[in-house]
Amino acid sequence: MIPYANDTKNVFEDDDLQYAKEQVKHIKWYHHVLLNRPLKVALALIFVGIVTPILIYQFAFYSSRRANSADGFSFGSCLVPRVSRLPCGLGNVAAEECHHQCCYDSANDMCFHRFPSRFSYIKDQNWAEDIFLRPRVATVPFKSQNSLTNIRLSLDEVSTSHLTITYYNSAELSFYGARIDEKDYEVEISSPELNLVVNSNGRNIFNMVRGPLIASDNIWEIAFKLTDETMYGFGEIPLRDTVKMIYNHKGGVSSIPLIFAKTNATYHGLLIDTVDPTEVSFREDNVVVIRSITNFGLKFHVFVGPKPLDVMKDSHCVTPVVFDDSCEREQSAIVDEGAGILHNAGKRFIPHVSPYIRYEANEMEENENNQTTIRNTTCNSIVEVFKDYMLQDSEGTGPYIGSVGNYDVVYPNYGNITAEFMEKLWAYTTNFDGIVLENSWPLDEAEKFVNETKYFLPHTLPWNATDGHGEKNMHTHNEYSNYFASAFEKLKAVPAWVSSHWMNGNVLINRQEIPTSWSSLQNELTEAALGGVSGHWHWSSPICGDTDNFDAETHINLCVKWYMAATYLPMIAIHSKGTPRHPLSFQGTHRSLMTSALRIRMRLALYFYTTLQEGPLLRPMFYQFPESEALKDLTSQFSVGNDLLIVPNLQPNQAMVHMWMPPGVWYELWSGLRVEGEEGEAVTMATTEADFFTAIRGGAIVVLQKNVKLTAEETRSQSNISLTISLSCVDLEYTAQCHAEGYLYITENVTVHFIADAAQLTVLKIGENPCDGTEPIMAFVIEEVNIYGLNITLNNYDHMRHVDTVIDLCELNNGEILFDFTVPTQV
Ligand SMILES: *[C@@H]1O[C@H](CO)[C@@H](O)[C@H](O)[C@H]1NC(C)=O
Ligand SMILES: *[C@@H]1O[C@H](CO)[C@@H](O)[C@H](O)[C@H]1NC(C)=O
Ligand SMILES: *[C@@H]1O[C@H](CO)[C@@H](O)[C@H](O)[C@H]1NC(C)=O
Ligand SMILES: *[C@@H]1O[C@H](CO)[C@@H](O)[C@H](O)[C@H]1NC(C)=O
Ligand SMILES: *[C@@H]1O[C@H](CO)[C@@H](O)[C@H](O)[C@H]1NC(C)=O
Ligand SMILES: *[C@@H]1O[C@H](CO)[C@@H](O)[C@H](O)[C@H]1NC(C)=O
Ligand SMILES: *[C@@H]1O[C@H](CO)[C@@H](O)[C@H](O)[C@H]1NC(C)=O
Ligand SMILES: *[C@@H]1O[C@H](CO)[C@@H](O)[C@H](O)[C@H]1NC(C)=O
Ligand SMILES: *[C@@H]1O[C@H](CO)[C@@H](O)[C@H](O)[C@H]1NC(C)=O
Repeated sequence: MIPYANDTKNVFEDDDLQYAKEQVKHIKWYHHVLLNRPLKVALALIFVGIVTPILIYQFAFYSSRRANSADGFSFGSCLVPRVSRLPCGLGNVAAEECHHQCCYDSANDMCFHRFPSRFSYIKDQNWAEDIFLRPRVATVPFKSQNSLTNIRLSLDEVSTSHLTITYYNSAELSFYGARIDEKDYEVEISSPELNLVVNSNGRNIFNMVRGPLIASDNIWEIAFKLTDETMYGFGEIPLRDTVKMIYNHKGGVSSIPLIFAKTNATYHGLLIDTVDPTEVSFREDNVVVIRSITNFGLKFHVFVGPKPLDVMKDSHCVTPVVFDDSCEREQSAIVDEGAGILHNAGKRFIPHVSPYIRYEANEMEENENNQTTIRNTTCNSIVEVFKDYMLQDSEGTGPYIGSVGNYDVVYPNYGNITAEFMEKLWAYTTNFDGIVLENSWPLDEAEKFVNETKYFLPHTLPWNATDGHGEKNMHTHNEYSNYFASAFEKLKAVPAWVSSHWMNGNVLINRQEIPTSWSSLQNELTEAALGGVSGHWHWSSPICGDTDNFDAETHINLCVKWYMAATYLPMIAIHSKGTPRHPLSFQGTHRSLMTSALRIRMRLALYFYTTLQEGPLLRPMFYQFPESEALKDLTSQFSVGNDLLIVPNLQPNQAMVHMWMPPGVWYELWSGLRVEGEEGEAVTMATTEADFFTAIRGGAIVVLQKNVKLTAEETRSQSNISLTISLSCVDLEYTAQCHAEGYLYITENVTVHFIADAAQLTVLKIGENPCDGTEPIMAFVIEEVNIYGLNITLNNYDHMRHVDTVIDLCELNNGEILFDFTVPTQV
């Protein structure tokens, strides 16, 4: 059933899983975040943004008339440079439809805000949590609806480096933010026209730039600026001149509603905390405009600086599960059988589950007596019994019936689901070890036209479907996958990977709907790197994509490269629906390149595991080298932890790659060849289809496993260690002043510390004794040491010195270990 199971190394160990869960569970999403360490980078959480501004535009707003105002507040000018013009309402409308408080450029048919905008809020006294803000203009430029009259601003000082800003409709609820004495930011709020500025260390990190603040029924808008320099996030490096939408949606990319903003080689972050459908425009002049179909308001988190954490996982097997409430529940036997096989083979069972339930409507039949009867209703028992727990159609006639594949499906409202319901739904006797939640927005493939976005976005429910409690689906849509994930906790607390979710640090990321193409491979690396530095360290990407467009013939070189890139991803998934993509389905050289990529992944596992204790694996350049101006916008190379750097050749038949030099000395990882170049310079390295250029930082010591076994666990317990010492010397001509250092994380209580100079390796333990008499968790023997950067007279290979040896790390029980690697040895 899963022919590649032996080869994909299913490496979820029970205690690893437990550990992952433990860690993830107790961390509120904003604790994943930056904080403390001043000004580097930011926080956690996921989303889906799509590049179409259709949502708000299709929501149909118009306005009319024009006139002038004389209310004693700022007059505002229409003399605004074109790039700085913020659309007033829809923007591109006829003059008569442009609100009279906006400006109109008849040459370009553009309705835009004055500067300062007339659409602001007024406060008559100093700001406090409970004072009301009143609108300066009674109507908004969307359909000329009335402005909300009593909104409030709440500021919550969460920590020294984390502030939340909430504008909200005070008719619905109220907030009182906390105050703290010591903090790295200060807030300025101007009167009488509201403008809010947050400063940190003398820099503006959030500034409303006197742009619009609009609040009305089902539409809120705000504009602000975070930096004059560059922004990153939403899957883009850098982030400029684009529109993203926050609405879980097929074809959308999982990215993060978190923006990293750079000023002067320091970074701050802004998280857009909204569950409602929201459009975010990044304008050429760095102004960000947010429009949200909300009745609550707008909430933002401002972060002054960063801090991440966590664990390591590996690949998982793919077994799709669809809840089936129709007459043939044939699938459950297959699933149970498959899970049994996996368990017996010592593998973990991690099914992929979609949230909808396959459903066969009860058809009316006429019998010969002309009496209408309902066909056998013993099927569909779940849907019948729990009818009210399903998302409902807009007419209130019953569950909304959508379509996926060739089936009709209904959508449980997981927000209110009971354990009883989940137990009925999970008809399988099998235990599962983790769960991948696929299609985890309400997916509906019923035919919908792109010209009808007024009613729905493609592949999801109509805007007006309801949750059965009078709330429109669109307002809870983004939370659907979170509800789905927590419903599963009612069955068993296991790690959950989801393909889309909202503000949830408890789940891991499973990328889905990735087409097989060179550009999506590039995109996967960028997304994983951005996702990692945003707090999602467990990021799973499907090797060779997971859509139907895969063609084993034409995509073979791409697929090989994808395997190589996946070496450096924290988790991988190999899909075999349709055409299989596992290595055994390929032949010859291609197959051996793929398996060797998986072996390299295994060789590096200890380094990955150690790295993931305190940071993400794959990292973008701006994160790893924030002080290096030349590198910040690169997506052609990525750091892997602190010590490795990959420069993938991501084009068919590419014969060379350019490595843009980070600070310091770098060597090719496997040969020890020094990469010669000044910081910021592009160095050209020859490469072939069989290569994946990887460099190691001078100053690092990296632990590799020498003999790769079938699974990561076996490898860890049986493989001896090969140590790579990559020296960084103060003066290259005087190799005595050299240094390198590295760590090997073994358990929470035991870490091994390696330090080297040009002659000697010193091994120290941090914490307890590595060998405590119980069954060892890993092989503790260092079998060989390779040293890069020595005086060439000491090299016994082209670019390195190789020493065979036997160093037993268990000797650390008796104190430090010294090893002189320049002394000639006979082994
Ligand atoms: C950026 O840093 C330089 C040098 O440290 C300083 O002169 C300059 O004022 C800084 N600019 C900002 C906007 O902080
Ligand atoms: C069934 O109903 C149709 C009209 O609804 C009628 O024409 C027909 O005669 C009825 N047949 C019987 C068997 O009653
Ligand atoms: C209804 O269908 C179920 C399952 O197919 C069957 O066991 C049952 O006998 C049927 N009941 C009737 C009244 O046809
Ligand atoms: C809901 O939207 C559908 C289009 O998907 C439309 O046909 C229907 O009339 C709407 N229902 C209500 C109550 O507005
Ligand atoms: C759960 O049910 C209550 C009333 O039964 C309702 O008010 C609430 O909105 C529901 N929550 C969700 C998420 O559907
Ligand atoms: C959208 O386009 C389809 C055909 O492409 C057409 O049948 C449908 O009527 C159009 N819908 C609207 C609202 O214009
Ligand atoms: C690991 O090293 C020890 C000591 O040299 C040796 O006995 C053992 O065979 C090695 N293990 C493997 C798998 O090579
Ligand atoms: C390398 O070592 C040799 C012998 O000790 C010495 O003569 C030479 O100067 C050294 N070279 C460098 C570049 O340090
Ligand atoms: C680490 O040490 C703590 C406290 O001594 C102990 O409770 C825990 O079980 C240890 N963990 C491991 C993996 O040995």
